[in-house]
Amino acid sequence: MRKLTERKIVLASHNEGKLSEIAELLDPFGISVVSAGALGIEEPEETENTYVGNARIKAHFAAKSSNLPALSDDSGFSVHALDGAPGVYSANWAETANGRDFPMAMTKVWNKIQHSPIPRKAKFCCTLCIAWPDGHDEIFEGSVAGEIVWPPRGTLGFGYDPMFTADGMAQTFAEIEPREKHLISHRASAFNKFTKYCLGS
Ligand code: IMP
Repeated sequence: MRKLTERKIVLASHNEGKLSEIAELLDPFGISVVSAGALGIEEPEETENTYVGNARIKAHFAAKSSNLPALSDDSGFSVHALDGAPGVYSANWAETANGRDFPMAMTKVWNKIQHSPIPRKAKFCCTLCIAWPDGHDEIFEGSVAGEIVWPPRGTLGFGYDPMFTADGMAQTFAEIEPREKHLISHRASAFNKFTKYCLGS
């Protein structure tokens, strides 16, 4: 597995929620980060139907465009009663003519599963890809299992956080502070593998 020796990387995401979580997770490692958006790098189209495929598209595009190593995150919310949907299409379920609307996307999920048996199981999944300008990449995956709560609760976090409680927790991901989410989240779990293998922590 290739180590990350460079001290500066690009975060290949335009999602503010992900950017702030990944920047916080990277903070203790003394690596300076710049977002793809800040470098004027466009968002490539996510044309694959897997997290790994889309994570690779984003990381390689940003690495080639910036000539720096690039870290991407492809993630999603997977509902057991919906055979894993919205999954890789989690962001698409929120699309409207005026941008993303997550209260609407959460309602869509709830309307489809409200008559399904309790507990209404769900999980968040995250795939991280670190890609170098020479075309090499490494992949790390993480997930967190839990269940759906309705109505949504909390104002922290982003996306589907207000309708999800991780197993063993009473509060939703939108009711806990970021540092608490980082102890258990799908993103933190993938990130811990990335730091272990690529940063040698
Ligand atoms: P993509 O990886 O850019 O396709 O978008 C992933 C989508 O999954 C996000 O826009 C969110 O809707 C959802 N998602 C991923 N991670 C989280 C999370 O930690 N909390 C809430 N929603 C998430």
